[in-house]
Amino acid sequence: MDLSVDADRLRADLEANAAFGRIADDDPEKCGRTNLTGTEANRAARDRLVERFEDAGLEVAVDAVGNLVGTWVPDSADPDAAPVASGSHLDSVPNGGIFDGPLGVYAALEAVRAMRDAGVEPARPVAVASFTEEEGATFGNGLLGSSVATGVTEPDEALALENDAGETLDEALERIGYRGGEAIDPASWEAFYELHVEQDTVLEEAGADAGVVTTITGITHCEATIEGEANHAGATAMGERTDALAAASEFVLDVEAAANEVVDKSSDSAVGTVGSLSVSPNATNVVPGRVDAGVDVRDVNTESMETIVDAARDSLARIGRERGVETRFERPFDVAPAPMSDRIRDAAHAAAETAGLTAIDLHSGAAHDAMRVAAVTDSSLLFAPSRDGISHSPREWTDWADCAAATAVLAGAVARAATE
Ligand code: CO
Repeated sequence: MDLSVDADRLRADLEANAAFGRIADDDPEKCGRTNLTGTEANRAARDRLVERFEDAGLEVAVDAVGNLVGTWVPDSADPDAAPVASGSHLDSVPNGGIFDGPLGVYAALEAVRAMRDAGVEPARPVAVASFTEEEGATFGNGLLGSSVATGVTEPDEALALENDAGETLDEALERIGYRGGEAIDPASWEAFYELHVEQDTVLEEAGADAGVVTTITGITHCEATIEGEANHAGATAMGERTDALAAASEFVLDVEAAANEVVDKSSDSAVGTVGSLSVSPNATNVVPGRVDAGVDVRDVNTESMETIVDAARDSLARIGRERGVETRFERPFDVAPAPMSDRIRDAAHAAAETAGLTAIDLHSGAAHDAMRVAAVTDSSLLFAPSRDGISHSPREWTDWADCAAATAVLAGAVARAATE
């Protein structure tokens, strides 16, 4: 099967999409974007995707939470056969990059166009998916659209989530015209492929064209609350304080030490981060009374994640006892590690070989929609190289030739799965 991806067409799509919520810079390779769910930029990005779906002859569906799917049902295909799907997301973090998400969506569309241009005759439909609110920058914790589509989160629960302005997802989608009602059910897909930028330097260092992910790491978010007593920084003697920030500082170091220990002893992919601290009242002349700390723990195996979480919980309890602060520990977000399907990973390797490209196995430290889809059908995640591993930044960059090469791997894999 001789598929040729049109690198210019793919680039034109990505550049057009990058204009929505664009953050300008004199250097064209440092222009980022802010594309948050429910904004005008988000509406424009969705409108353009729908337009491009229609240009390519895809049937468009929008579900209750604004997930968008375009389906190609060629004459050769049994319209009732389970479609092969690929895709990603169009939303970004604030000040994000132009490839994180859109590459996977537009590469999936380019795969369909390349198949059609090459005269490939799929036996089953081919779908292109764009999931809502993958980043969780506006509503919820992330992976929102794929969580609803795969039955992890009830649509009503998602639609009731509010942004900072108090607007619900339901209202925001209605306002931008993407509060749909059609069913999008990844469980009915034969397989799912997501192409994404790596956000790390493994491919760059290996000089590989594409990565085939073996496992997406699990993620847990914990919230630790430490309550001491706010008091005058001048009039309160050192021996009379219950300083919540000093207590939190011990906690931060304990989480780091726990993660380091797991890395040394059992799993070098484990990570533990206290990524946020909210200090109250946060004034230079006041002994801190309360700290809310956000903890992020990830690994490719559940056991090492539990070890770090347990250590964090134990640390907090110890600090409570020793420093006389009140503590609370909650775990509001939990996604188990997701091994990717061997069957469709093999198809990706075969596609790379056919295209004369190098693909290597690696794991993903970041969560992606593919991990939600993995719970309901064979799912796979492919990576394109990221310059210097930078992402969630306007400096995120993947060379256009690298975008096209990784898209060729995706297209070959999807074509294989669709013609089988
Ligand atoms: Co992403």
